[in-house]
Parts: sequence; structure tokens; C-alpha cells
Amino acid sequence: MRRNKIPPKGFERIERNGKLKMSLPSAQTDIATQATCDDAASCKRYAVQKGYWSDIHINYMVSGSMQKRQPEISRGYYARTEKIWNLISQFVSLTNNLCQIVSFGAGLDTTFWRLHSAGLLPTRYIEVDFQEIVYRKIRAIRNKSPLKGCLGSITSSDQSSLHCEKYHLVTCDLRDTGSLKDKLKSSEVDFSVPTLFLTECVLVYIPPEDSMAILKWCAESFTDAVFVNYEQVRMHDNFGQVMIQNLKARDCLLTGVHPCASLDSQIQRFTSAGWPCVSCDDMWTIYNSLPDRRRIERIELLDESELLQQLMEHYCLCVAVKDVSDIGLTDLHT
Ligand SMILES: C[S@@+](CC[C@H](N)C(=O)[O-])C[C@H]1O[C@@H](n2cnc3c(N)ncnc32)[C@H](O)[C@@H]1O
Repeated sequence: MRRNKIPPKGFERIERNGKLKMSLPSAQTDIATQATCDDAASCKRYAVQKGYWSDIHINYMVSGSMQKRQPEISRGYYARTEKIWNLISQFVSLTNNLCQIVSFGAGLDTTFWRLHSAGLLPTRYIEVDFQEIVYRKIRAIRNKSPLKGCLGSITSSDQSSLHCEKYHLVTCDLRDTGSLKDKLKSSEVDFSVPTLFLTECVLVYIPPEDSMAILKWCAESFTDAVFVNYEQVRMHDNFGQVMIQNLKARDCLLTGVHPCASLDSQIQRFTSAGWPCVSCDDMWTIYNSLPDRRRIERIELLDESELLQQLMEHYCLCVAVKDVSDIGLTDLHT
């Protein structure tokens, strides 16, 4: 991909860590990026209400009127949620719940509460997002007893963090790796416990050098770990370019789109960051392998599946594994 020497409109150049870094998105772009979590949460809520999967807590996390979504969108969210759920639940079972999950850019996601309902809580579940999103999530948790009731005793809480026995929610700009490490330490992260990192539609909003710093730090610091990354792929073809333009029209600049060129470039970024075992598939391949696919295809009929296939071919799931203690983490793959 051609790199612009002059920052595109909407970007500003700033100094960080004493040196001039690649231009960072303006505050306006950050607001648009944060808004993507509302879109994700309301699409998931709509699909849950239609019966694609069950999640008894999502209505407490997301309020407001329900907007109708196209069946292609709900099937896309089903494939993403179902596959990630399969990986997470396998990971927790494999480690007999003695593990950690760290969700970067968690938004209003309810996986912690789903794990609680399924008796699959890990030792520690840490969520990280921008201040504005964390503040809203803390408010929702505090005001809704079905959410709060799953947390156990709260050890400390203010407007930007919530620390409980097994659940930690902290504020951090993921582009600032130094602060990220401190925030994880404040959440009592344990480097010797098997840890699953999740980025669900997040890295694409972060400049590649910053996401690389996160991937490298995770690979270097944790003995046994899995990194699950769901996001866009094949963004250089015509369909991908239209997706980029649509988001740009909403002020949402995909500053991290460079590694989303192909399945190979996704694998390559993890390999270069020090992850020894990496697999990556597009969501069309994954969707067709899901055992529950026939059931959900009866929920809402599609006249033709061409758009669904195109959409799903432009998202992928990458699973990177480091299994020094040989506990079987390499069985987790796409
Ligand atoms: C598309 S939403 C996905 C939310 C959640 N992972 C899900 O799938 O439901 C992207 C999330 O990443 C967060 N995010 C993006 N860039 C971030 C950054 N630099 N620091 C912290 N959070 C960020 C946004 O605030 C937003 O909540």
C-alpha cells in the first residue's frame, strides 16, 4: 500500500515518547471509532433477539430502541460471535478455568457475563477501552443488578476503572503501550498464567506500529498465550475500498488497515511479532464450518448469498499461539 508522506485530512502530527510518530487520528476520529462499539453492541442485540445465539445480559448492557438489521449482518455477527465463543470456551476448559482473558477494545461486549452463565469464568477477565466507553460500561454495570450481581465483591471503583474479584475494566488508549502495561499490572495480570488476548474489530483502528508493539509485548511477556484477532481482510480490492470509504464517510479512518491486505499479511504480522504458531481464515470459510449454521439459516431467509459471501470474505479470524508449557493450546486454531 502506498504511504502518504503528508498526513491525510483529519490527522494531526504529535510528539510521543520524545519522538515524532506517525500522525495520530484527531479527536473527531477517536469519537467515531468509539461509536463503533454501539454499532457492534446493537447488531449483536438484534441478532440475539432474533435467536441467532443466546445472551441474557445484552439487553442490560445496551438500551434504546431496536434497529432492524439485514440478515447478512446478523449472520456475520453470528459467525464472529460463535467462533470466538468456541475458542474462548475451549481455552477456559483446557486450562480448567485457571487462566486469564484480556479483551482489548472490549466496547460493550458481554462475553464475561456469558462465561459466568456457562460456569466458565477464568481466574481473571480484563477489559480495556477508551475512557468514554469504560465510563458508560461502569454506569451500566452499577445501575443493572443482573450485570453487577455476576461480579462478586468490588474491590475498587471510580469513573475510569472497576476492579472486582475476577473482573477488571480499565481505561487506556491502546496506542500508548507504556500506559497499557501499567493498566494491566493494576489489574493484577499474571504473566505465568495461560492468557487469551482478544481483539474483536479493534486493531484496524490502531496504527500498525502501535498494534505491533502490543502483539510483541504479549508474545514476549506471557509464557503461554493465545491471541484471537477478528477484523477486516482483503481491503485492497474494490469491495474493501468501498468498505473503507463508507467508514471514512462516518469520520472513521482505518489507520491500521495496512496489515489487513490479505490472510498472509495477517499471519505475517503475528509471526514477525514473535508468535510461533499462527492460523488465519476468512469468515466465509469459518461460517461454512460452523455446525449450527443450518439452524440459523432458517431464522431469516436470503434471496441470494452473493453479498453474504463477499462480506464474509472481507473479514477474518487469526489465532496465534505460544505454548511453552505444552498444555495443548496449539489445538486452538481457526
Ligand atoms: C468495533 S468496536 C468493537 C467492540 C467489541 N470488541 C465488540 O466486538 O463488540 C471497537 C472498539 O475498539 C475500541 N478502540 C479502538 N481504538 C482504541 C484505542 N486506541 N484505545 C482503546 N480502545 C480503542 C473502541 O472504543 C471500540 O469500543
